[in-house]
Amino acid sequence: MTKRGLASVAPEGAPSNNAGFAGGRTTLTYADRLSMKITVQTKAGARTFDCDPNEKLLYAGLRQGLALPYECGTGTCGTCKARTVSGPLKPGWRAAPGRSYLKEDRGEFLLCQETAAGDCTVHVPGHAPAEIASLPRPAYHTGTLGAYARLTSDVVSFTLAVDPGMNFVSGQFAVCAVPGVEGGRAYSMVNDPGQTQTLEFVVKAKPGGKLSEWIFAANRDRTRMRVFGPLGRAVFRPEENKNILCIAGGSGIAGMMSILADAGGAGYFAGHRGHVFFGVRTAADVFYLDRLGAFAAACPGNLEIAVALSEGPAPEALKARHPALRFQTGFVHAVAAAAMAGKYENIVAFVAGPPPMVDGALRMLIMEARLSAKDIRYDKFG
Ligand SMILES: Cc1cc2nc3c(=O)[nH]c(=O)nc-3n(C[C@H](O)[C@H](O)[C@H](O)COP(=O)(O)OP(=O)(O)OC[C@H]3O[C@@H](n4cnc5c(N)ncnc54)[C@H](O)[C@@H]3O)c2cc1C
Ligand code: FES
Repeated sequence: MTKRGLASVAPEGAPSNNAGFAGGRTTLTYADRLSMKITVQTKAGARTFDCDPNEKLLYAGLRQGLALPYECGTGTCGTCKARTVSGPLKPGWRAAPGRSYLKEDRGEFLLCQETAAGDCTVHVPGHAPAEIASLPRPAYHTGTLGAYARLTSDVVSFTLAVDPGMNFVSGQFAVCAVPGVEGGRAYSMVNDPGQTQTLEFVVKAKPGGKLSEWIFAANRDRTRMRVFGPLGRAVFRPEENKNILCIAGGSGIAGMMSILADAGGAGYFAGHRGHVFFGVRTAADVFYLDRLGAFAAACPGNLEIAVALSEGPAPEALKARHPALRFQTGFVHAVAAAAMAGKYENIVAFVAGPPPMVDGALRMLIMEARLSAKDIRYDKFG
């Protein structure tokens, strides 16, 4: 263990650098003023990095430039599986769904949940995808919530003024931790990518969900939260020169908005085609239609945006208000499958939303569209 320079440590009683990502504990004791050395063994060799007290191993490694494997960053997917070789780990969220992928009797654990109680050596199987290394390095930020707005009865949007500013790529997300809610939650940035002081998010209520209940209970303007990001590999890379297919369920449209802003702003649709399918249940659940309509109207012929309502046809008045959009009936992946038949040449697909919708879309893209894994990017919101 290495004693950290006291100048870099918050005073007694002040929030730690990673407060809110550490099981709710926010006070440093003298004994905590030590940073741990974590050695990661991979097929490519061993690397050592520092890990703050109560900091998740994944976040510590990523912020120091290690290309560690991960997907959700918040305990659900199991992608960040690693194995203890030596040293004491502190268990994180016991009920994390990602633990179902582990053989815990063999020392396996989730890098995004566990913290270290001393210097540790861990083994990470396989290779982390190479593109992680080419994306902006994540860091801790303080966020101040603003522009809180209800978009539908169960969807809110808000901005976060982040300090320091963040540089992100369209399609990425950040993990946000709010006062009184244990653990972080991943939210995809909606706004234009690049270096920015302001992030924009859209959150859909999850019945019984802890952060949902917190955010829907009151207008949260001016609340401060902790943010770690940017994260995520489901990103738009214009240099790939691919046509774009987006399939989104509910708030899954968040990252697609950023991709459309990015691609549209750069004139990408002058030379490429874009197909967007946005699924919700009923006409009362739609949001962002003005912005989507403006994207489609700015790229006539090359960017087609369809809104799929799973519980019945769209009212004529809604169609008349949004002439640049197409309205269809059915589950969004089925609507996309029917519309896209024969149009999969040179496509990269982005999928985001609730797990059953994402699974349906992935099945369709693999079995029917025959897209390769490198051309399918997804975020499963659960
Ligand atoms: C990559 C990604 C991007 C996402 N983007 C969006 C988005 O843009 N908009 C949107 O509405 N939703 C998004 N989600 C879903 C979002 O992160 C939340 O799962 C959702 O808002 C429900 O949160 P909740 O607190 O209401 O529900 P809860 O059921 O209370 O919590 C849901 C999630 O929070 C984490 N969690 C819960 N309890 C703990 C704990 N004790 N310790 C640590 N972690 C815990 C877990 O990841 C869990 O799955 C995204 C998810 C992922 C993985
Ligand atoms: S990245 Fe750790 S469980 Fe998903």
